[in-house]
Amino acid sequence: MASDLSKITCIEDLRAVAQRRVPRMFYDYADSGSYTQGTYRANEDDFQRIKLRQRVAVNLSGRSTRSTMLGQEVAMPVAIAPTGLTGMQHADGEILGARAAKAFGIPFTLSTMGICSLEDVAEATDRHPFWFQLYVMRDRSFVENLIERAQAANCSALQITLDLQILGQRHKDIKNGLSTPPRPTLTNLLNLATKPRWCLGMLGTKRRSFGNIVGHAKGVSDLSSLSSWTAEQFDPQLSWADVEWIKKRWGGKIILKGIMDAEDARLAVDSGADALVVSNHGGRQLDGAPSSIAALPSIACAVGKNIEIWMDGGIRSGQDVLKARALGAQGTLIGRSFLYGLGAYGQPGVTRALEIIQRELDISMAFCGRTQIDQVDRSILVPGSYPLPFPAA
Ligand code: GLV
Repeated sequence: MASDLSKITCIEDLRAVAQRRVPRMFYDYADSGSYTQGTYRANEDDFQRIKLRQRVAVNLSGRSTRSTMLGQEVAMPVAIAPTGLTGMQHADGEILGARAAKAFGIPFTLSTMGICSLEDVAEATDRHPFWFQLYVMRDRSFVENLIERAQAANCSALQITLDLQILGQRHKDIKNGLSTPPRPTLTNLLNLATKPRWCLGMLGTKRRSFGNIVGHAKGVSDLSSLSSWTAEQFDPQLSWADVEWIKKRWGGKIILKGIMDAEDARLAVDSGADALVVSNHGGRQLDGAPSSIAALPSIACAVGKNIEIWMDGGIRSGQDVLKARALGAQGTLIGRSFLYGLGAYGQPGVTRALEIIQRELDISMAFCGRTQIDQVDRSILVPGSYPLPFPAA
């Protein structure tokens, strides 16, 4: 393992190993976008277009990537994003991700659609605070149940995802017959036979279904398909009034995820949320939406003084984190970069992903002539290379 990891120098290396080690249906689930995947690709491509200004002969001693997110000290302005089915990339994936994040000094977010439950993660991390991502279900008593369990699990913020009332179609999930655990079809069995490490891990854990849901939501004793659950249970009527209702029940910090429009950003501010995440759900929902990094400047310009702004989508390097920060994001979330590390090597792989991003962030910031994250702003970018606020509609 250690010698394997010494040759892992970038997130793309982790992605390639994860692709070999994770069963196809779960790798594809993580690594695809909706419909034509245009927005999914744009998330990465638009970062590449932004150019950094190289500066020289600046004293680069005493550098630090430390920052804050929601007032919390972080080793770098990066948190682990909520990702569905994380425990299917690697056995106990949510626990391993939370442990790696805790050791590194960044926040971890558990998804409602995680495999390990709120209680599993709390227990495995000695009740170190983490964040919980909430999907709003039609059954409000189940939403209350999740909120109460998140409080009991010592979660320090609630991330409400606003962009998944309905599900954008991901072709591969349908073609692969995505379910958890995988159904014992010939195709699945043949594919699993090529993933001995993954299978061994799964044999050693009891966590193979949606731990936050099964046994907690009314009438759900078995749940294998994310898409059928979404169709039945995610509330298509979700509105800003629900955000207020949740905020009151929760009583703590609220993060709103899935904001792509300046008008929605203003409504997010009015709702009293503490932070918003500029996010197109990793290109998994509205195909044809702009990349998150292209949407960020409009939102920063509209509400940057009134609420903390973060972004996710397309972050595969520390350079990307630096660019997001320069365009007005106080923090970033990583989903796929985290999952690639997890799927490749479990907890050491997640740690490796975080080390890679932090080192790239540090070195790139230094080449731009800055030694502290707080000194990073638009002036580190080459004029004309970065997205500007969209003209008013
Ligand atoms: C869930 O968050 C998904 O994108 O599948």
